[in-house]
Amino acid sequence: RREHDWLAAMPKCELHLHIDGSLQPARLLELAEKNAVAIPHASVADIERACEFTDLQSFLDLYYLGASVLRTEADFYHLMMDYLRMCRQQNILHAEIMVEPQTYAPFGVTLDVVMRGFVAAIDDARREWGQSVLLILSFLRHLSEDSALDLLREAQPWREHFVAIGLASAERDHPPAQFRRLYSAARELNLRLTAHAGEEGPPTFISDALDVLGVERIDHGVRAVEEASLLERLRQDQVPLTVCPLSNVRLCVVDTLQQHPILDLLEQGLCVTVNSDDPAYFGGYLNENYTALRSALGMRREQALALSRNGFHASFLGPDQRADLL
Ligand code: ADE
Ligand code: ZN
Repeated sequence: RREHDWLAAMPKCELHLHIDGSLQPARLLELAEKNAVAIPHASVADIERACEFTDLQSFLDLYYLGASVLRTEADFYHLMMDYLRMCRQQNILHAEIMVEPQTYAPFGVTLDVVMRGFVAAIDDARREWGQSVLLILSFLRHLSEDSALDLLREAQPWREHFVAIGLASAERDHPPAQFRRLYSAARELNLRLTAHAGEEGPPTFISDALDVLGVERIDHGVRAVEEASLLERLRQDQVPLTVCPLSNVRLCVVDTLQQHPILDLLEQGLCVTVNSDDPAYFGGYLNENYTALRSALGMRREQALALSRNGFHASFLGPDQRADLL
C-alpha cells in the first residue's frame, strides 16, 4: 500500500500514448449516440467483453471503430482534456502524445477540426496546472507512404505544434523501409523521429527503423530480446525503448507480465521506459503499469526511479524545458 502510494506520487513521464487509445468506453458510447454513429456495441460491458484481444490487429479493429465516433472540435477537446486530467491525477509531469489524423479523414473530419480541439485542451491544461505536453504526428503504416506525405504537407500550418513524427498501426506486413521518403521529408522539416518497431514485427524492423528511417527512439522494441547483437547495439547507443507492459500482455506480445523482459533490459543497461500505449483498452494508465511491474516482477524502488528518469531523459524536451520540469 505504501509502495503503491509512493509509485503514484513519483513524478512520471509518458512517451508512448495514442490519444485515441485513451477514449473510455462510456465516452465512446456517449459520442456514438450524439454523433449518430452506428456501432455494434450497446453497453460498457459489451465493449469490455470486446477487449479480449488475440493480437495487434484484433485490437486495432476495435480501436479504429472507437475513434470513428469522434467528429467535432468539442469531441477532440474533451478526449484530450480527459487524458490531461489523468496526467495531473497520476503525476505525469510530461506527456508526448500521438495524434493520428489519418484515422478520422474517412469520416470527413479535417485536420483543422482535430487540431483546434486538441490545442485548445492543451492550452487550458498548461494554463490551469502547468501541464507539459508535446505532440507527435503519427502515421498509419497500413496506409500508403503517399498518403502519409500528403498529410505531412497538409500539417504544415500546424508545424509548431508537433515535435516529432511516429509510425503506428499494423506492423507485420508494413516494414519501416516503406516509409523512407516520409522520414527524410520529416527530417528536412527538423522534426524528431520515432517509430513503432519490434512489437509484432521481427528484430530486423528495429534495426531498419534505426538505419533506414534514422529514428532516435523505438516504440516498443521488445522483440529485440531475440537478437543479442541488436540488444548490444541498443545498449551501446542508448537508444530509448518506449515499452508498454500492460499493452504487451493484452496483445499477446508476451504470455504473462511475469515473463516481461523490461527489468532484465533495465539491468542490462538499456534505456527502457514505461508507458501505457492505449490505457482505455489495456486496463490501465501509467500508475497501473508501474504497480503491475511491482506486483508481477518485484520491481524495486530504485528500478522504478531509474525507469522514470529514463523517461524524462528520452523525451523530446529541450534542455531548458526539461530543467523547468524537474
Ligand atoms: N496504434 C495504437 N496502439 C498501437 C500499438 N500498440 N501498436 C501499433 N499501433 C498502435
Ligand atoms: Zn503504440
